[in-house]
Amino acid sequence: MKLLIINGPNLNLLGTREPETYGSKTFEDYFTELQFKFQNTELSYYQNNSEGEIINKLHQANNEFDGVVLNAAAYTHTSIAIGDAIKGIEVPVVEVHISNTHAREEFRHKSFIAAGAKGVILGFGLQSYDLAIQSFLNSEK
Ligand code: DQA
Repeated sequence: MKLLIINGPNLNLLGTREPETYGSKTFEDYFTELQFKFQNTELSYYQNNSEGEIINKLHQANNEFDGVVLNAAAYTHTSIAIGDAIKGIEVPVVEVHISNTHAREEFRHKSFIAAGAKGVILGFGLQSYDLAIQSFLNSEK
């Protein structure tokens, strides 16, 4: 199975960005752990801070991957365009968040991604990505 993880804006700063909320591990280090854990899964990772580039990657993923794990970060709460992109492609998308967005500010409670997503996993720290991968692998069985 080929899965793509897409991280949105500011997630390139994981490790140093608000560590009390997002932890102190870089995503690159965590991605290496994921590759080690899921050796039979072809995992790819893409990060971009721009809304349009995330949309382009989603369109491209449609033909290349079996599933997408998407943390659209702040665009989750603002981007009708990313929400529409997910509805417009066939490849299933699981929305993830590191933090429990519902336990945070009101503006983080709204997601424009969720309605088009296969499911949503949030609040488990970086483990949210691991759980999303497992959700794809389990649905294969
Ligand atoms: C986040 C939650 C968003 O509200 C925030 O803007 C982020 C990260 C998370 O993974 O917890 O950048 O998506």
